[in-house]
Amino acid sequence: MSFTVAIDGPAAAGKGTISRAVAAEFGFAHLDTGLLYRAVGAKGGDPVAAARGLTAEDLSRGDLRSLAAGQAASRVAVIPEVRAALTDFQRRFARAEGGAVLDGRDIGTVICPEAEVKLYVTASAEVRAHRRWLEVGGDAAQVLAEVRERDARDMGRAEAPLRPAADAVVIDTSTMGVAEAVQAAISLIRQRLPRN
Ligand code: CDP
Repeated sequence: MSFTVAIDGPAAAGKGTISRAVAAEFGFAHLDTGLLYRAVGAKGGDPVAAARGLTAEDLSRGDLRSLAAGQAASRVAVIPEVRAALTDFQRRFARAEGGAVLDGRDIGTVICPEAEVKLYVTASAEVRAHRRWLEVGGDAAQVLAEVRERDARDMGRAEAPLRPAADAVVIDTSTMGVAEAVQAAISLIRQRLPRN
């Protein structure tokens, strides 16, 4: 059986936490697609060549979660050839036997429009910046500015801009605890799973 859960949304909205919890609950494989773009941005040099030659080693670098890697990712993510180089791998992952959860920006809109469940996880920029600041520290105002800058770039780009798919269920985590958001996602998926 293939069964795809597509989880899209802006930076630090809670996609990663929800995706990991959903994957654990249903025994699905999980792909954090942001990591692919972070690895391409972090590799330096020609981003198209980096995307075409991405290795497992590139994906296991220790610095991929930094603010700088997030900015580098969103800069290379506007390049159509970079996105194209990463598409097949994501599509195969999404439709592999046994179920898959993918989180990113364009999973429900471009990578897997046929996904059985599409979630758009969001929260206000202030709440998201505060969460990111708790993770990375530093200057809170600068973290907020970076979140806003990345939102603008991700939503404004011509290729695969960040937006909810028409049939996505929106989960706004601004005033929701983690457990509540995870529960909302799990009950929706349970309703859509085929009954043997
Ligand atoms: O963890 P966070 O939400 O901050 O970011 P991420 O999911 O790791 O994504 C980093 C950047 O990669 C995003 O700002 C996007 O520009 C890009 N990205 C994308 O274009 N498409 C995806 N499917 C995933 C990430």
